[in-house]
Amino acid sequence: MKIIVTKDQKELAVEAWQVMRSVLLQKEDAVLGLATGSTPIGLYDEMVADHLKNGTSYRRVRAVNLDEYVGLSPQNDQSYRYFMKKHLFDRIDIDPESTFIEDGLATDAEAECRRYDAVLSRLPRDIQLLGIGANGHIAFNEPGTPFDLTTHVVDLTQNTIQMNARFFEKESDVPRRAFTMGPKSIMDAKKILLLAVGQNKAQAVAAAVQGPVTPDLPASILQRHPDCILIADEAAASLLKKDL
Ligand code: F6R
Repeated sequence: MKIIVTKDQKELAVEAWQVMRSVLLQKEDAVLGLATGSTPIGLYDEMVADHLKNGTSYRRVRAVNLDEYVGLSPQNDQSYRYFMKKHLFDRIDIDPESTFIEDGLATDAEAECRRYDAVLSRLPRDIQLLGIGANGHIAFNEPGTPFDLTTHVVDLTQNTIQMNARFFEKESDVPRRAFTMGPKSIMDAKKILLLAVGQNKAQAVAAAVQGPVTPDLPASILQRHPDCILIADEAAASLLKKDL
């Protein structure tokens, strides 16, 4: 795994944009695997700023997202579809028809998971962007998730519910279940860009990069990916051992 440590979150966004940019430069019709959460917002701002300034076009780009809460409609301002529109899709020239995310309102969860797997097979990702949970989760794959899962429905852990409560009015409003790409789906991307910001991610980052590869720390599977880049700010990288 290639590791880049940045001074702060701003510098991290600029570095992440360099990686994303190189993918876009190689392929006008790249397939981008995207993530929600607070970590990628700076990168999305960089993409928008570049689009406005330099005219980089997303007209032929396709985007597939990691996960979506069960039960939330795209219009719900806490849905991940809404997040993506607000932070990226509505600010660039991507065709809305080329943006894919699980349907939070799907009535047949199993059928929705298989539908999404088919979308992922049809659109092999050139890059998959990831954040990491303080417990080492990637997407909504919580500790203990088997590595061979593709898209599935998860019951969120109390830890994740508490972490995500900051985006809702009250903790009881946080959905208890979510659709998520599985570890196997994530690993199928040609390149992976893992971003981590802040001291509260330091332990998970160190375990993911330098600990044993185990489903107990879902992000540790990334050690097996042939082209994975970690960009972490100094705080998130603070527990990485330098002499390994
Ligand atoms: C988001 C996602 C999550 C987040 C992770 C970190 O689509 O799947 O795994 O990447 O929870 O969240 P932030 O960036 O808010 O710290």
